[in-house]
Amino acid sequence: MKIKTTSAFAPASIGNVSVGFDCLGLALEHPGDIVSIEVGNKPGAELIDLQGDKGELPIETEKNVVGVVVQSMLDALKRDDALAIRLLKGLPLQSGMGSSASSSVAAAVAANEFLGKPFTKRELIPFAMEGEELACGAPHVDNVAPALLGGITLIPSHDPLEIISLPYPKNLYCAVVHPDVAVATRDARAVLPESLPRSISVKQSAHLAAFVHALHTNDWELISRSMIDLIAEPKRKDLIPHFNAVKSAALEAGALACGISGSGPTIFALCKGKTSAEEVVVEMGKIYADHEIGNEIYVSKINSKGTQLI
Ligand code: HSE
Repeated sequence: MKIKTTSAFAPASIGNVSVGFDCLGLALEHPGDIVSIEVGNKPGAELIDLQGDKGELPIETEKNVVGVVVQSMLDALKRDDALAIRLLKGLPLQSGMGSSASSSVAAAVAANEFLGKPFTKRELIPFAMEGEELACGAPHVDNVAPALLGGITLIPSHDPLEIISLPYPKNLYCAVVHPDVAVATRDARAVLPESLPRSISVKQSAHLAAFVHALHTNDWELISRSMIDLIAEPKRKDLIPHFNAVKSAALEAGALACGISGSGPTIFALCKGKTSAEEVVVEMGKIYADHEIGNEIYVSKINSKGTQLI
């Protein structure tokens, strides 16, 4: 019997992009997760294979984001198709690169294709958010939206959900360093203040508005000046070894701006062009190498396509 399989690749993403806490995100081209769906042996979603997670993720369907996402799609459709799921993790866990979002989104796209496309791409977002809720305790969309749709996405409202794809300069690149330490999003959210002084709110709103304007007008200098995080970075940088040194190294090497990717520990820098990003990322990685902390470095253009069937 011929087994029909559908597979999807969902890329890493950078939540917050420093300036838009929980409401701005961008997609990288790589790394990413792959989810495949095939006919299962029993009604409902079943996770049958899990690779690349170094044994750290639960294999139980109801405890893994891919199982939760696919089952919630079946429930919404009132269907009981037997869907067997395979997950290949390409993203490091607890990295701040949208690892759980990547799995959730790849699962939603692969399952949607398998089921005959009952949902549009955007209609898949609430299902992927259920994965984020399970993994991080908060159904934030700033990784899910860019991982699914690609580009740089602004989420002006969570309820009702509204997503705006922003323009950006074609030559905008990211230099990314992931140090070999884990920071759980739950823990990184716990250190954040419950409320903000008015002066901080006013400044942060102005930075976000200026950043969005800079993307619309290809204003590199304004991108550089406005990508400032007054909310999360002051609290979270202490969770990330050598954050200040990495940021200084990135800026000295020519980065436009540098900050924490999502909830960290990954650090990213925005750069004008690939050559600049390649130079910047080497200097960022060197800080960890000098301190004998293992790390991976990535250079990536903004991923304009988002999740793709493969
Ligand atoms: N916006 C989320 C946070 C992203 O900063 O907690 C998590 O990657």
